[in-house]
Amino acid sequence: PLVTSAEMFKKAYEGHYAVGAFNVNNMEIIQGIVEAAREEKSPLILQVSAGARKYANHIYLMKLVEAAIEDTGLPICLHLDHGEDFEICKACVDGGFTSVMIDGSKHPFEENIELTKRVVEYAHNKGVVVEAELGRLAGVEDAVKVNTKDATYTDPDQAVEFVERTGVDSLAIAIGTSHGAYKFKGNPELDFARLEKITKLLPGFPLVLHGASTVIPSFVEECNKYGGKLDGAQGVPEDMLLKAGTFGVCKINIDTDLRLAMTASIRKHLATNPADFDPRQYLKPAREAIKQMVAHKMRDVLNSSNRL
Ligand code: G3H
Ligand code: 13P
Ligand code: ZN
Ligand code: NA
Repeated sequence: PLVTSAEMFKKAYEGHYAVGAFNVNNMEIIQGIVEAAREEKSPLILQVSAGARKYANHIYLMKLVEAAIEDTGLPICLHLDHGEDFEICKACVDGGFTSVMIDGSKHPFEENIELTKRVVEYAHNKGVVVEAELGRLAGVEDAVKVNTKDATYTDPDQAVEFVERTGVDSLAIAIGTSHGAYKFKGNPELDFARLEKITKLLPGFPLVLHGASTVIPSFVEECNKYGGKLDGAQGVPEDMLLKAGTFGVCKINIDTDLRLAMTASIRKHLATNPADFDPRQYLKPAREAIKQMVAHKMRDVLNSSNRL
């Protein structure tokens, strides 16, 4: 069935692991992820960005996810990733999603609270859960200086006030991760002291880690070997993500690793099979690469296998 993340987060919190939230844009990506979850017996969140809705169209993604549920019988949560205003959140609530993110992190604190409250009120009324964001996921440069760090990373006391005043169901925090394939210039570093403090101040409350791809080196190498140009790509080390899951982090967002798995596979196939031109010839191994990568995440990074 299509479910909210409430039960998943409760179990993940108590079991000290995290549920993977994977970004989906088409059928092959959905099938690869869902097949991995079925084999691993893992809870699963599929998430759709504004860009994904624009690319594939809301109804196509909705129906593909419904098909995946009918096919596998898995409980799946369908989530809007980074909703930037009330309208897109409302459209996804009305359009059958079970979870939405209102990302008001670019607004001042009070405005973020007002916007989040408005979405929470609308969504809860229809049985849909809400994720919000406080603090900003910054690039490498911003994290270097301590004063900048304090300005962009999530303030623990503000997090408590934000959660209390908005009634939100989960909160994305900034502790040093960032979106995309270039997360760190030097050594990877996350602010675990901050995560620990937030976890202590909000016992039992689910936290979310965005920008949590590990940027798997073998995919980067394969892309580069077959004509790509991804110099200096670096992600969050696996052990840091495992550790985050033992604190309040219950949801770990992964998009970049899906993109890399798919692109590495397709680049390799086309480069080594120049006569192929049937899309199924390269989409089938790409789907399989996604499946293997996601299964690995569930087993070794999220620790979410065999939790159903
Ligand atoms: O947080 C961003 C996700 O990776 C989705 O990216 O907006 O390009 O679909 P997108
Ligand atoms: P990555 O770019 O690290 O995969 O993060 C994805 C994400 O946070 C989607 O919201
Ligand atoms: Zn994100
Ligand atoms: Na956890």
